[in-house]
Amino acid sequence: MRLEEEIKRRRTFAIISHPDAGKTTLTEKLLLYGGAIQVAGAVKSNKIKKTATSDFMEIEKQRGISVATSVMGFDYKEYKINILDTPGHKDFQEDTYRTLTAADSVIVVIDVAKGVEPQTEKLVEVCRMRKIPIIVFINKLDRYGKDGFELLDEIEKKLNIHVTPLSWPINRGSDFKGVYSIFEGKLNLFTPSKQTIEEYIEINSLADPQLDEIVGSKDANTLREELELLREVYTPFDKQTYLDSNISPVFFGSALNNFGVMELLNCFIEIAPNPLPYQTEERLVMPNEEAFTGFVFKIHANLDPNHRDRIAFVRVTSGVFLRNVFYHHVRSNKKMRFSSPTAFMAQKKSIVDEVFPGDIVGLHDTGNFKIGDSLTEGEILNFKGIPSFSPELFKYIENDDPMKSKQLAKGIDQLMDEGVAQLFIGKTSNRKIIGTVGALQFEVIQYRLLHEYGAKCRYESITLHKTAWITSTNKAQLDDFIVRKAGSLAVDKEGRLVFLAESRYALDTAIEKYKEIQFHFTSEF
Ligand code: G4P
Repeated sequence: MRLEEEIKRRRTFAIISHPDAGKTTLTEKLLLYGGAIQVAGAVKSNKIKKTATSDFMEIEKQRGISVATSVMGFDYKEYKINILDTPGHKDFQEDTYRTLTAADSVIVVIDVAKGVEPQTEKLVEVCRMRKIPIIVFINKLDRYGKDGFELLDEIEKKLNIHVTPLSWPINRGSDFKGVYSIFEGKLNLFTPSKQTIEEYIEINSLADPQLDEIVGSKDANTLREELELLREVYTPFDKQTYLDSNISPVFFGSALNNFGVMELLNCFIEIAPNPLPYQTEERLVMPNEEAFTGFVFKIHANLDPNHRDRIAFVRVTSGVFLRNVFYHHVRSNKKMRFSSPTAFMAQKKSIVDEVFPGDIVGLHDTGNFKIGDSLTEGEILNFKGIPSFSPELFKYIENDDPMKSKQLAKGIDQLMDEGVAQLFIGKTSNRKIIGTVGALQFEVIQYRLLHEYGAKCRYESITLHKTAWITSTNKAQLDDFIVRKAGSLAVDKEGRLVFLAESRYALDTAIEKYKEIQFHFTSEF
């Protein structure tokens, strides 16, 4: 019974945005409303600032901060809310993809002046693939930006989703006066404040003359007219359609000024999904099953080079995780127990005795875990939907200190388990190739190998357009491919066969010629 109740009150979600749209500010304001922090400015951004691209200490420091801010739990009304933070820097987009696997829904933040930006498009595409329900928050209405109707149009076209506004702004820029909550059917007028939440005036009906008194007749009438128009154009909101990810409610506001954040939060707790079932290769796992199950979606290395331990972030998918109880680590077929599992509340980490579905527990790890690993009470389960994507940048990695080859191998191995990059080993050359989604990772790897493992590496360039995992049921065709393309084949860490396409042309012709070979661009197929 208690398990059902705990599941019902949980909301686990991620906020995603193009850098600078206001993800950190919104997170902070949500924490303020939840009473988890008292003044804004307390949340340090997990983003790696643009200026820091060559400053590794800065990256390391910021990675450190991001352990604390990776998950921010707080209570609001009777709900337990878990915000999963995602790195803003585009080179760390794979981290974001993986974090999304632990979220039941997302809030997408869009800058009113910039509209839909490229990174948002990519991230929403991943959400659509997984059918994660999406809420959109259009931010910075205190600045001049695009017209509301125009933005809704742009979101539908570029993000390929259907929207329906659930709040609407009164003016924008310096005349911005607040937002009307279509969801709650009332107007909350706040005093702008960057630091705390001020008192607000509540107007319960659009016809109320108090509305004219407060915002002026002109703005009151414009609001009435625009709401009328919205009613004509957009499908009314329906919770189930949103949960099926067929419609996305849109909110307007200014996170910095507290406008529209409460409307968003009040609606979010009511409509957003509670912990959902998870698909494994073996079966569907329901959150209310008695037996504990969970999977690792993120691994974070310790900053201190003297303690090369890590934190594995586990999303609990069913049952209750208990401290000091032996669980089954499916991949290694070993029993493990954890004496200091960590829960994340607001900015704080604390040791917990029990963790419920939807929650994230941090487990101290000395190198046993790998992204995607499952923990169970004994059942063999392999979670699906935690793919690696075919990387975009490639380099040969070579040992630059023959005395340290063991350290180098171990370092590379562990960094790959953390999901920093992917490793391929050339079939004929036997050379190690690192594949990443961003240029920054190469520098991070080199830096971390040296500082955490005492190993020196150097890179050599390789001409590669893309890699594709290949499979086929036609053995003759696959064998032919293997013979002819021997120089362009590699294996990944799991020993699976990978085609290294030198150019787009090479890839296209191979796909064209070998019709019975499947070329996969994500690791899950
Ligand atoms: P991110 O995490 O999505 O990258 O964005 P972040 O919240 O850091 O916000 C990016 C910038 O936008 C910040 O300014 C922040 O203060 C500002 N911002 C966020 N919400 C609003 C809003 O509603 N209105 C306006 N006008 N600005 C907003 P910054 O100068 O880059 O940083 P800071 O010095 O203020 O922290």
